[in-house]
Amino acid sequence: MRELTPETITDAVLDQMATTPDARMREVMAAAVKHLHAFAREVNLTPGEWIKGIEFMTTVGKMCTPERQEFILLSDTLGLSALVNGLHDSTAIEEGTHTSLLGPFYRETTPKLPAGSQIARTVKPGSECALYGRVTDVNGKPLANATVSIWQTGADGLYDIQESATVVDYRGVFTTDAEGVYALRTVKPVGYSIPMDGPVGGMVKAQGRHGMRPAHIHFLVGAPGYRELVTALYLRDDPHLADDVVFGSADDLAVDIDAHDPNSPIKGLPSIRFDLRLAREGAADRASGRVGSDPAAILKAPARSGNGQSQQAAPAAG
Ligand code: BEZ
Ligand code: FE
Repeated sequence: MRELTPETITDAVLDQMATTPDARMREVMAAAVKHLHAFAREVNLTPGEWIKGIEFMTTVGKMCTPERQEFILLSDTLGLSALVNGLHDSTAIEEGTHTSLLGPFYRETTPKLPAGSQIARTVKPGSECALYGRVTDVNGKPLANATVSIWQTGADGLYDIQESATVVDYRGVFTTDAEGVYALRTVKPVGYSIPMDGPVGGMVKAQGRHGMRPAHIHFLVGAPGYRELVTALYLRDDPHLADDVVFGSADDLAVDIDAHDPNSPIKGLPSIRFDLRLAREGAADRASGRVGSDPAAILKAPARSGNGQSQQAAPAAG
């Protein structure tokens, strides 16, 4: 029997995994093992630290419910989600509006609303604003009938999903008109803290970080023949624009609230204009997926075997 050492164990694992039939899985897992082992060697990981890491990941998993995705929050706070978004943008066949975090509070079940609707159930005096913009291709050609899904928090900095499993608030799906314009009423977005009551919040606090996201509104935009766009607008004057705890904000996504924009299709309200440029869909785009999900969809997703095929659900006990 050969003797494995900290110097030889990595190659032994890679040799054994070399039989993986799926080429992409083989590539991803080999790189993951190399970097994981290199990390353990670099910090000289102790058994106590190893078990702390296992306990941490276990707690992260236990926090996940149909309304909360603590693993996405972990990915976001470690900058992994923003990194994968950036890598995704760099594979587009043309450069559209950049991607920003979907975050853990997207909901698939969002009502379709007529243009101009107010998406908030309650609007405090002075907080109402219009939100509009034009969806175009990268050359400025308007895209009619594009779908624009929007979600944000209320003035308390909480998403509907954080307060109720069933009540839908501060979100809606709109369709662009013949000029590619979408328009709605909402409330001014506010900066808020990510959930700090779980293991990820504990990590952020232990790192001396503030946990704040700058004021923003999320967008998921689709049009046939174009690459799906997940992005967000950010208020330029937010103090955390440059140090978003989840690394989603960017200067090219920053906007101002205009008190008297003569071009706003909704009169008598301060307005935010956010135009969106969609890249044409490339051959591999549909299969590439998105960074983020409705938390309920992740729990419903069938277990995958190594070759990406769904596995039969185990029969219920008893
Ligand atoms: C959000 O913007 O909804 C969000 C993104 C990442 C972590 C927490 C919240
Ligand atoms: Fe958000």
